[in-house]
Amino acid sequence: MENTIQYIKTNKDRFLNELLDLLKIPSISADAKYNGEVARMAEATAEGLTKAGCHRVEIFPTKGHPIVYGEFTKDASLPTVLVYGHYDVQPPDPIDLWESPPFEPVIKKTEIHPNGAIFARGSCDDKGQFYMHVKAFEAMVATGDIPCNVKFMIEGEEEVGSANLGEFCNQNKELLASDVILISDTSIIDIDTPSITVGLRGLSYVEIEVEGPNRDLHSGVYGGAVGNPCNILCEMIASLKDENNHITIPGFYDDVEIVSLEERAAMNKAPFNLENYKKDLKVNDIHGEKGYTVLEQTSIRPTVEVNGIWGGYIGEGAKTVLPSKAFAKLSMRLVPNQSSDKITEIFQKHFTSIAPPSVKVTVKPHHGGEPVVTPTDTIEYQAAHKAMQKTFGKDPIPMRGGGSIPIVALFEKVLGVKSVLMGFGLDSDDLHSPNEHYGIDNYYKGIETIPYYFKYYSELKQ
Ligand code: BES
Ligand code: MN
Ligand code: MN
Repeated sequence: MENTIQYIKTNKDRFLNELLDLLKIPSISADAKYNGEVARMAEATAEGLTKAGCHRVEIFPTKGHPIVYGEFTKDASLPTVLVYGHYDVQPPDPIDLWESPPFEPVIKKTEIHPNGAIFARGSCDDKGQFYMHVKAFEAMVATGDIPCNVKFMIEGEEEVGSANLGEFCNQNKELLASDVILISDTSIIDIDTPSITVGLRGLSYVEIEVEGPNRDLHSGVYGGAVGNPCNILCEMIASLKDENNHITIPGFYDDVEIVSLEERAAMNKAPFNLENYKKDLKVNDIHGEKGYTVLEQTSIRPTVEVNGIWGGYIGEGAKTVLPSKAFAKLSMRLVPNQSSDKITEIFQKHFTSIAPPSVKVTVKPHHGGEPVVTPTDTIEYQAAHKAMQKTFGKDPIPMRGGGSIPIVALFEKVLGVKSVLMGFGLDSDDLHSPNEHYGIDNYYKGIETIPYYFKYYSELKQ
């Protein structure tokens, strides 16, 4: 192991520069204009795996973006760790709010990252994080200090719902056979406070259209008599929560897992400072569901959030118009044991039922995904605990996360393999936002911790 750690130290600068190169490729999966760049990123990922020491590397085309697969077989009798990550990124919009161009990575110091952070779209989510695995693997192979077999599956559609990955897993069960799936696509509390994600929320995403009169109207001539789709959409959305920020959709909470008071008390022992939280976001107050702490509101409680809303005139100046249509994109984060399909259906029924007769409302489902909770009493989890305790010098805190990685639940269902979510980002790294960044210390800490995961997992598995 000393050799591996030494190798990482010696090659630190190169490891960083290689990541910077990958961050220059705008692999935006949501926007077809960038399909060529996504393909180029798949090639670069495959090349990275080959150079790092995979025996077999393949780019599997899908109906959408390709899946990059790599494999290193040491001995068929040894355990196999499958590393999952994603090479696609979110669109950089709103582009004007970036302090430096999103695909021209720069390193800058920040209060939270005094040794510097890499500013670029995908730096934390997830190029910086999956590439830690490629570099940790390279170090293990180069020093001959690799205790097990390794497979990589790096996909290009995570940010758009992983629509083709489920089918790929279904059709390639043998290829993907493994003992554990290791994922770095989540956060730690801070660089001095390690944590391991033990749960993710599910997702139900819908798009709403409210259709009023057959054309845009003069808001003076018709206003007051004709239903305004923008007003009505706002009223309908506002009615989804009561004064306690409790969701009012009938049946919405029916399947929600009731977390015991003991478990909630344990959750709330994780370090969290409400004043700092508000200060960081520059808000005077929070606006969560009554009766729950922020840590609970963002992990064990479901939500309804408008992601985008539009309609009518949004150009410069004023235009008096009663718009004919209004739109919204809305997501619901789900917790165990809610089902994405069931919640989508409940929402669709409820939302159309509350529409006044003056408008026509349609709800179109987008992608979804199931929530997961990963156990902590397994050797798969214990290995992550030991690895982080080794490199941080502290016991990591198990925490449920608020984000979603829908494929994790599917891995368990289709491949029968449990995942370990050992991420190294920070929630404040602005993933999906302008100025996304990833601490250089976080990057190196990940590269250093991953070989210990392999070591401890292989030892515990024997
Ligand atoms: N890496 C994130 C999920 C995440 C981030 C989990 C931080 C925990 C902490 C992932 O890339 C992501 O953004 N997922 C999407 C879901 C997807 C279906 C678009 C999300 O959570 O919005
Ligand atoms: Mn991600
Ligand atoms: Mn993401």
